[in-house]
Amino acid sequence: MGSAKTEMQDYREFIDEILVSEEELQKRIAELGQEISRDYEGETLHLICILRGGVLFLTDLMRHISVPNTIDFMAVSSYGTNRQTSGQVRISLDLKDDILDRHVLLVEDIVDSGYTIASVLSLLETRHPKTLKVCTLLDKPERRETEVPIHYRGFTIPNKFVFGYGLDMDEYYRNLPFIATVDLERYRPNA
Ligand code: IMP
Ligand code: MG
Repeated sequence: MGSAKTEMQDYREFIDEILVSEEELQKRIAELGQEISRDYEGETLHLICILRGGVLFLTDLMRHISVPNTIDFMAVSSYGTNRQTSGQVRISLDLKDDILDRHVLLVEDIVDSGYTIASVLSLLETRHPKTLKVCTLLDKPERRETEVPIHYRGFTIPNKFVFGYGLDMDEYYRNLPFIATVDLERYRPNA
């Protein structure tokens, strides 16, 4: 069936450790939702999820947002090898709706080099939203190559490759309810 794997390696064979458990994630996401709801009180919030990694975070986060809100999606791909982001980012799916004069909050899985968020921010600025802020579940500051503003941050993590809760290993394992680190020596991409 196409290029899909017929067998997926069990993550327990290559997991290093659970970095953020399901309970910790859900607790922190509820706090973020409450903080965002306070900050945007009396306003309508437009949430923009960056596909595909941000999708689990968005759907859990929005359940804790009490101000009126709408959602939209955008996909970007970075040129470069698997786990190394290059400086160039391409929009592969643009927003459906206009953001002119709206309060926009970008919802991202992780800020790593910062190139993705930096490119998306500079593109969206040209469309003149009323406000434009960034909410990321994870922040890997040691890897930063370009300065980006982060207004809401779930967790600061060390410089390790992580998977689960939206983040993939070669597109798989996004559905795991926790964030884990990988032992690359035990990972078999073409199992
Ligand atoms: P940046 O442009 O380098 O900040 O990279 C952001 C994107 O790289 C994220 O949206 C992720 O898709 C991907 N990414 C960065 N670090 C990891 C990781 O540890 N695991 C999985 N994906 C990652
Ligand atoms: Mg990815």
